Amino acid sequence: MVDLRTPLFIANWKMNKVGREVQAFVGPFCEATQRQSSRGEMVLAPVAVYLSDLTKMTQGTHVQVAAQNCGAAKSGAFTGEISPVMLKDLGVRWVILGHSERRHVFKEDNALVNARLKAALEEGLTPVFCVGEKLEERKANRTFSVIEGQLAGLKDLGEAILKPLVIAYEPVWAIGTGENATPDQAQEVHAFIRQWLSKNISSTFANRTRILYGGSVKAENSAQLMSMEDVDGLLVGGASLDPLSFGEIVNRGLKS
Ligand code: PGA
Repeated sequence: MVDLRTPLFIANWKMNKVGREVQAFVGPFCEATQRQSSRGEMVLAPVAVYLSDLTKMTQGTHVQVAAQNCGAAKSGAFTGEISPVMLKDLGVRWVILGHSERRHVFKEDNALVNARLKAALEEGLTPVFCVGEKLEERKANRTFSVIEGQLAGLKDLGEAILKPLVIAYEPVWAIGTGENATPDQAQEVHAFIRQWLSKNISSTFANRTRILYGGSVKAENSAQLMSMEDVDGLLVGGASLDPLSFGEIVNRGLKS
């Protein structure tokens, strides 16, 4: 069961990198990780305007491409949104949803994130569904209840459609702060998420669903985080902007 969870590493570039910087990343990163390419999946998430270019640049390599968000409708009067139909049309298979910046800076609530998730799944995309508590919620011992609230919508979707789902645990207090969750803190929440999936979806689904950790991941902590039983991959922001730094995170993470 467990070995079905191929290690997965995702670079979330957020609103960084113009076209020439996107292009300059691909070669060095592919070279740095080539030797490990059969041992894990590697995905780059540029801003939407470069999805098409990056998809072309990575063709024939071991690297895949993700969008950072997608709309909840197939088409229509939704200014500024990008439909999952359009991502699929570009050949983009992955989409990050419910990232903490979407939830907290852009005020996407659970209902909206769930609607985006449903739309992505219906289009056959592979969503990376992000959950995580804020510092004040952790301090008030509300970590598990917040995460439960974020996961609750999965129950309505049903196991069949959820099949490709990836979950990312990203404690808000660890994102971009330099303060990562300790491997034990990450493991505790990952185990909680897997138990929740087992109870509310099925044990088969829980066992084969990948749960990534994100929040101040760097080369120095990737192996330790990846050595935890329920950590199946890493979602990396700041340290993914440099190809050799992200390559090192992948390489060390795969050795653990
Ligand atoms: P960080 O961001 O690695 O810069 O903390 C992670 C994320 O937001 O996905």
